[in-house]
Amino acid sequence: MSLRLLAEVSPQDLLVALSELQNHLLGYVKSMALKCAVDLGIPDAIHRRGGAATLANIATDTAVHPAKVPDLQRVMELLSTSGIFSTTAGEDSGESGAVVYGLTTACRFLVGWRNLSPIVPFFVSPLIVSSFFSMGDWFRSEPAAAGSLFELAHGCSQWEMASKDAALNSVLNDSMVADSELFLEVIILDKGRIFRGLSSLVDVGGGNGAGTQVIARAFPRIKCTVLDLPHVVGQVTAGDGKLHFIAGDMFESIPPADAVLLKNILHEWGDDDCVKILRRCKEAIPARSAGGKVIIIEMVRGSALGDSRISEMEALQNMFMMYVNGVERGENEWKKIFSDAGFSDDYKIMPILGPLSVIEIYP
Ligand SMILES: C[S@@+](CC[C@H](N)C(=O)[O-])C[C@H]1O[C@@H](n2cnc3c(N)ncnc32)[C@H](O)[C@@H]1O
Repeated sequence: MSLRLLAEVSPQDLLVALSELQNHLLGYVKSMALKCAVDLGIPDAIHRRGGAATLANIATDTAVHPAKVPDLQRVMELLSTSGIFSTTAGEDSGESGAVVYGLTTACRFLVGWRNLSPIVPFFVSPLIVSSFFSMGDWFRSEPAAAGSLFELAHGCSQWEMASKDAALNSVLNDSMVADSELFLEVIILDKGRIFRGLSSLVDVGGGNGAGTQVIARAFPRIKCTVLDLPHVVGQVTAGDGKLHFIAGDMFESIPPADAVLLKNILHEWGDDDCVKILRRCKEAIPARSAGGKVIIIEMVRGSALGDSRISEMEALQNMFMMYVNGVERGENEWKKIFSDAGFSDDYKIMPILGPLSVIEIYP
């Protein structure tokens, strides 16, 4: 910092600037505090008490050691300042026990039926977080030699690691299950018509079939098949027998169906790989006149419309996907991939919530 800055900028602006810098430096502490809250079961504890709990209530319900209650208050203070918990009454009394903590709307995504709490351990998993430690080296290395940030840090791809590391595999699968169960319910409520009239569907990279199951329950006449890698399909338990599972590689071949579903698949791959996957999808579906289509559930960037929080979310997600050489795309980037894979240019983008969208493409 040049000393001239002190003369040129007002003390208030300097303070705001310094806070901005500190908040960036310590941004990961927010993630860790959220992980801690979920590990301890704090959102559930508040939820079970009807959405309002004091620090003492939370400490008792989550079995925090009495000597550590003041430290628990630090976690609650940070997560209240950052919009995860709300605080009411007694806030200014100086008596920590008098503060009543509640759940903000953000936190309500983490409790109750179809909640997103299983995505928390995935985002802060040591194998994922440590992928970002060598970004500087990654930028200077030959693309073919280094691969993705994950590959540079760990010597193999995320999916290879998941096939040999049971802990990573279960964190990944639990996270995908939670995301799929919630968002497919929402999509069926809002845009259920996309599945109407189909007699068969293959969910490519459908994991253990949790999301496919939501579709199969809502549309029992659709014959639903899940295609995923052998180590994922190999772990699937019998279930109710309504889903068909196929172990395979989407780059090699995709079983035939009226429609192919790709949910959160393409954002993990670069453009060339997306084109390869979509060409395999095209081979699997009938002509458009016979109802053939590919349903893509992904982010379509560009919905922020001046809201800095949504812009930040889009930018963060886009940068996060760098860990596997993935990318979050805007409409023009999607359009080019669809066209390169030989799909018609009258695709349909149906926004669900901000950038989260359903895209239908036709052969
Ligand atoms: C991010 S997950 C998405 C899972 C699910 N569609 C969802 O939205 O929750 C990506 C999935 O693709 C699968 N996958 C990765 N490479 C694959 C390949 N070559 N062939 C088939 N599936 C693959 C992974 O095993 C994983 O289940």
